[in-house]
Amino acid sequence: MTRNKPGSTGRLDKRTRAKRPAKTPKRKAEHTLRLNHLLGIETLSPSDIGAILDQAESFLEVLRRPIPVVPALRGRTIVNLFFEPSTRTATSFSLAATRLSAQCVNFSLSSSSVSKGETLLDTARNIEAMRIDGVVVRHSMPGAPHFLARRLKAFVVNAGDGCHEHPTQALLDAFTLRKRLGRLRGKKVLLVGDIAHSRVARSDILCFSKLGAKVAVCGPPTLIPPYIEELGCEVFYRLDKILYEVDVVNMLRVQNERMNSGFLPSVREYRKLYGLTRERLGALSKSVVILHPGPVNWGVEMDFEVAEFPQSLILNQVTNGVAVRMAVLYLLARERADGE
Ligand code: CP
Repeated sequence: MTRNKPGSTGRLDKRTRAKRPAKTPKRKAEHTLRLNHLLGIETLSPSDIGAILDQAESFLEVLRRPIPVVPALRGRTIVNLFFEPSTRTATSFSLAATRLSAQCVNFSLSSSSVSKGETLLDTARNIEAMRIDGVVVRHSMPGAPHFLARRLKAFVVNAGDGCHEHPTQALLDAFTLRKRLGRLRGKKVLLVGDIAHSRVARSDILCFSKLGAKVAVCGPPTLIPPYIEELGCEVFYRLDKILYEVDVVNMLRVQNERMNSGFLPSVREYRKLYGLTRERLGALSKSVVILHPGPVNWGVEMDFEVAEFPQSLILNQVTNGVAVRMAVLYLLARERADGE
């Protein structure tokens, strides 16, 4: 599997955008975004990101209504194809589709023919043969969603591909920060933890930098990949050196499977060196915003007191995730409808 190539279906195709006029002047005024698939933040421009976040804003208003449903995708069918476990992302996409009046089918890995050896492509082609509109895919292989996007007629959303990208997590993180801080331009954002294996870190660095934030990462040297600076971030190895200078701290999940593979000395030492402990929390400015993509290992990457911190936005991220995923599904399905 390869990463997105220029001109592949995975990109926002600027050539297509140039050739295809907007259907109505009103639509053009709303968005100039032309999205065929959502495979990563890498290929989005700052204005593409802004257009998705603006759309999410109107869906957040829908979610606050007594009956939080709109008919925008009535008659459409989305399949959630999760080859890895998920609570937030899978439920959030499922709810997003339902709130837009689309039908949503949740594929279960354990009860599917994948357990009998069926390939990713065969699984996806068989599901597409049932005439669906979009596939949301999470897979352990980096590039799996790109592979599908090049072969399927349905639109594809990357819900996390190995250590590569998790674009909707970055979009909901940016949306959550934009709502709390107004704008990201000039804000200092720190990502802490396992940067090397984190698809959230990669998508967040790309997304926040594109929106004008100053991004830094901090973690054990074994978990900071070489050349990460090339994505547009600064690197720190001592948390206390940078923690008290930033506006936003995003604590990444410690992947327990790494504990036994020589990347980390021990849970205790990790917490001491890189954890957001109650002592560090006490020394933080009350204006600092705290994020975590979940699931949280309480007592490892952060102490439970963080949940009570007034600027802890961990559950806001989850709420906003539904609105952001509604925006992504709506924009992709709308683009399909325009192209039919
Ligand atoms: N943040 C995130 O991707 O969580 P899940 O693994 O529960 O989907």
